[in-house]
Amino acid sequence: MNGQASPRVDTTRLQHLARGYTETAVFYAAIDLDLFTHVSAGASDVSALARAMNISELNTERLTVVCLALGLLERAEGTGLQNAADCEKYLVSTGDRYAGAWMTFTRRETPDWFNITEALQSREMPATLGMYSTITVESARRYHAATYSIGMGAGRRFCRHVDLTGRRHLLDLGGGSGAYSINAVRSFDGLRATVLDLAPVTVVTQEYLEENGVADRVDTVGGDFIEDPLPRGCDVAIMASNLPIYDAERIQLVVQKTFDALEPGGEMHLIGETLHPDGVGPVDAAMWGMAEVLYGSGGRAHTSSECRNYFATAGFVDVQNIDFIPGTLTRTVGTKPG
Ligand SMILES: C[S@@+](CC[C@H](N)C(=O)[O-])C[C@H]1O[C@@H](n2cnc3c(N)ncnc32)[C@H](O)[C@@H]1O
Repeated sequence: MNGQASPRVDTTRLQHLARGYTETAVFYAAIDLDLFTHVSAGASDVSALARAMNISELNTERLTVVCLALGLLERAEGTGLQNAADCEKYLVSTGDRYAGAWMTFTRRETPDWFNITEALQSREMPATLGMYSTITVESARRYHAATYSIGMGAGRRFCRHVDLTGRRHLLDLGGGSGAYSINAVRSFDGLRATVLDLAPVTVVTQEYLEENGVADRVDTVGGDFIEDPLPRGCDVAIMASNLPIYDAERIQLVVQKTFDALEPGGEMHLIGETLHPDGVGPVDAAMWGMAEVLYGSGGRAHTSSECRNYFATAGFVDVQNIDFIPGTLTRTVGTKPG
């Protein structure tokens, strides 16, 4: 005995994991019932909220007790319930930053997650495009309503962090709603952009470009960035939120193709959920890799050092990983020698 007590081992963490799904379920219910919008509009106690949500006071109390415990609601001195800052900013449905569509983006998959054991045991050959192999204009419209609700914020952040002054043409690989391109051409005079995405998706991209009044500065190309040649003549490229869809070989291929297509002196930014260099966490990056089991692709989570290696192998210099949204997204950047 060295006199030091060993850390106490108990079941608390395991029990929390075993019931983690309850947190997701109540979070969805709060969004469905527009709880945060009603709180923001002034319903600050159980009675007022029960009336606003049209549910019983007992159930309203149950809901607010959980939301207080989860830190989604707070009790303000003297004024009753109020939203936590993130709920006030992103979950008030009358606000222009409302991200409810993104928060419930993967909701339809919930039953599949509870059959994941069988999915992990499957020996079926994965499809390269995974969930995207069957995409239609209609499904792309639903899908990108969600990515747009979160992507515009990410696009704005990108333009605050990365100075594209003097750049002429941006290639937005798998650009989806065009959120990055829309923000980039608005932020940098003289910049044009091309969104390359699967053909059905570009129909939807075009709708967002028109809605945002940038269709004269952003065009679209329907294609597959793995299989098809990339447009040439661009001096900056972004690939955002595609990383876990593909295995290392395919990410290396697309980074190489982008390097080859860029003008000398051009830069590439790969934004995605990445694991720490040792492969241990964050959970979110690991889970996006796991989701690919359900989508039937060959993709997986990649570490930030793997991303740096894809760039260096392709020939990029000054390669760096930069925290883009700490704990969620990393931006890997490199320059093609001039
Ligand atoms: C999660 S969305 C991200 C959209 C956008 N980059 C953003 O961050 O808002 C991924 C996009 O990549 C596109 N994509 C995936 N694989 C692709 C491929 N091989 N060729 C072209 N587009 C692809 C999908 O169609 C989808 O629009």
